[in-house]
Amino acid sequence: MSSQFSRRDWLRVSGLLTAGLGSGLRFAKAAPSVGRGQSSLGQSSLGQSSLGQSSPGQSVFVNEFATLATPPDLPKLRARLLANENPLGIAPSAKEALVKAAEIGNRYCWMEFAQLKQLIATDEGVKPENIMVTPGSSDVLMAAAAHYAKNSDQTRPDRTGPGIILTSAMTYDDLLERASDFGAKIEAVPMTKDYKYDLNAIQAKLTPDVKLVYIVNPNNPTGTVVPAADLEAFCRAVAPKVPVFIDEAYIDFYEPAERPRLGKLVSEGLNVILARTFSKIHGFAGLRLGYAVAQPDTLKSLRQYTNGEFAVGVTTIMAGIASYKDKDWQNHCRAENAKARTYTTKALADMGYEVIPSSANFILFPIRMKAKSFSNQMFANGIGIQTREFNGQPYCRVSVGTMDEMAMFMDTFKKVVG
Ligand SMILES: Cc1ncc(COP(=O)(O)O)c(C=O)c1O
Repeated sequence: MSSQFSRRDWLRVSGLLTAGLGSGLRFAKAAPSVGRGQSSLGQSSLGQSSLGQSSPGQSVFVNEFATLATPPDLPKLRARLLANENPLGIAPSAKEALVKAAEIGNRYCWMEFAQLKQLIATDEGVKPENIMVTPGSSDVLMAAAAHYAKNSDQTRPDRTGPGIILTSAMTYDDLLERASDFGAKIEAVPMTKDYKYDLNAIQAKLTPDVKLVYIVNPNNPTGTVVPAADLEAFCRAVAPKVPVFIDEAYIDFYEPAERPRLGKLVSEGLNVILARTFSKIHGFAGLRLGYAVAQPDTLKSLRQYTNGEFAVGVTTIMAGIASYKDKDWQNHCRAENAKARTYTTKALADMGYEVIPSSANFILFPIRMKAKSFSNQMFANGIGIQTREFNGQPYCRVSVGTMDEMAMFMDTFKKVVG
């Protein structure tokens, strides 16, 4: 299997493409695939970072799955720390709801949809018509990619060239790759030296050709966040000109009091699109549930590219309602994640590794050996992780598992790096 074998190909072969491993790995073919949209992903300023990056180069990652001979290797892992899943599983209340929902599996679930939308709308301070429920947030990302790339079609007489999707380097690339496939140009602004979105630099790049601004907060793979007040000010300045898409897949790992509350911007009428998933803190990566919060007109446009809300089954919806209400379970998962993340960050720092401070359920840090060899040895020892390569510097991205899993990760890491 060559390094040209992308994660998407691998997932397709293994049948896992729809199973929730969507963790931003689609640029496995490295810079050339990004280059389809003439992305500036490689023009990073990170060469000056204190984290040991050297010369500017191409932002790529190495295909960490390349050495897995067959899909059954996955269950053999002692610690599955590669897809930012919730290691604690779904809430007991959600399990109970799942079983109950099976009894009404013969019925269309209009009522349950309405109930979930109402719950979310109340929480976000928006109306139910501002919510679109999807099987995971990937559907929202894919719909936005198709819609905004289509509306950037360079063959249209009112366009001077391909439309631009403006974003940051070192970010989640599923939406970007899809938009690039549809003909959009991806422009990625370098991150700040502390691995955060540089909102000022992004704003400075706005032109009439920019069709969408894509922001991931907390960001995958860096785990960094932009302060809530800065993000809000950015949206207020930019959204009147260009839609701002904020991918909040990891937002639930924030302490609730510190979370950006951007639903209010939607209720004020701004063209902000929030994408959320139940795959992370709720543990629904396999059950598939997500949603968008946006203007009704925007949702109407995005619905053209989805199967509509009946793509989600009643079991998932009812379990989702139970989980959404179960703040105790969410608090428990958040606290356990923070504990295991702090333990791992400290253990790596004690070995002299400079870990990027993470607000999510994964950690990124530069490693001192070749990504592929590192990845091979970790997998061979039953520890599933991911690797990335930015500016020629290999990184490990490890999802935060249970304390036991993180202890196993550290033991194996020490063995592998010598
Ligand atoms: C930043 C980000 N956005 C969106 C997703 C999509 O998640 P899902 O389709 O499982 O909801 C992921 C998955 O890992 C992610 O990391």
